[in-house]
Amino acid sequence: MTSADELRSRYVEELRRDGLLGGDDLVRAFGMVPREEFVASGFDGGDGRWIGPDDPDFLSLVYRNHPLVTKVADGVPVSSSSQPSLMAAMIESLELRPGSRVLEIGVGTGYNAALMATMGARVTTMDIAPDVVERAEVALRRVGLAGAVDVRLGDGYLGVPADAGYDRVVVTVGVTGVSPRWLDQLTPDGYLLAPVEHAGNHPVLRIRPGGPGMAEARGELRAGFMSAAGPLAARYPGAHPAPRRTGALPPPTVRHPHRWHPPLDVFRYHDLWFAVGAWDRRTTFAAGPAGGWGGPGGCTLLDELHGGGAGLLADGSVQAAGPSAARYAADVLALRDRWVARGEPLISDWTARLVPAGDPDQPILVPSGWIQR
Ligand SMILES: C[S@@+](CC[C@H](N)C(=O)[O-])C[C@H]1O[C@@H](n2cnc3c(N)ncnc32)[C@H](O)[C@@H]1O
Repeated sequence: MTSADELRSRYVEELRRDGLLGGDDLVRAFGMVPREEFVASGFDGGDGRWIGPDDPDFLSLVYRNHPLVTKVADGVPVSSSSQPSLMAAMIESLELRPGSRVLEIGVGTGYNAALMATMGARVTTMDIAPDVVERAEVALRRVGLAGAVDVRLGDGYLGVPADAGYDRVVVTVGVTGVSPRWLDQLTPDGYLLAPVEHAGNHPVLRIRPGGPGMAEARGELRAGFMSAAGPLAARYPGAHPAPRRTGALPPPTVRHPHRWHPPLDVFRYHDLWFAVGAWDRRTTFAAGPAGGWGGPGGCTLLDELHGGGAGLLADGSVQAAGPSAARYAADVLALRDRWVARGEPLISDWTARLVPAGDPDQPILVPSGWIQR
């Protein structure tokens, strides 16, 4: 047994033990597809190193439950192999059968397409970047899956109309709304999964076509994704503010103590965050200065006009800054308590209708009026 095989077996075992790999088909696919072949041009080690196959840590870093950034442009990650547990959860949500026809948006490394093809799906996948498409094609050929996955170059917004009749569309890049073309290209009982920007995050939504003007979205999974290029990332009036990175907020001047001890775990915190975003359009991701606002940042009501706002932490405490700090803090407290009073709904407890937004020539469909089921 090679060291890659051993590491892959251990990785599958660990994902399974942590409850992150569901059905047998998924376990088998993760055990068969060599992830290292899909990142053969290396990836960002996160410490300034580019890790290639010659690096002694290459295989051990490949076989961890981590995303691997495989392309960076102007300091921004633009292509990757997503986090394995997230890929597994999305594939599980696709409820694939042998022969299912899947359109994937964002081929990236090709690893996700390879997993789905190994489970018997017929996969068409597209990516906007020619170098990414070329590398994915080489990798798929190397592992003997070239015939099972059809790789296309182009803006995913368009889909592949000539091959319409997909059972599933799966979007593996963050979008601000979904393309109406995808809905047109689904079979009548098909559905699509897409990470649609909501309150500064990219939760995965399950979307069913449902006839003209009747498409419906339902929250499905907590997730983080890099953003798409082109019309799929259009900003539109009434959207949540774009996420703000470290240092975007001044030090807090108003503080309210915690409500939960221990703090909510990452899943419950994202359930709370989703609800706050469903109720209040000012919600986004924001980070304050190091040492303030509880570290890496999180759910924040942003005061876009005056450069401040109020952040809600996983223990339910609130920190606020800016000229309207006290009012923003009170608003966040009210939203937090409303979530509790409503029975602490999950992401999957929310539905919304989809309405057109963005460029009228290339509209996207965005969720409007979230309702707790
Ligand atoms: C997170 S990666 C995809 C991960 C991939 N499915 C995997 O598992 O290896 C996102 C990909 O989306 C592509 N992308 C960005 N905007 C796009 C667009 N408008 N249409 C198609 N692909 C796009 C990027 O080039 C990038 O390769």
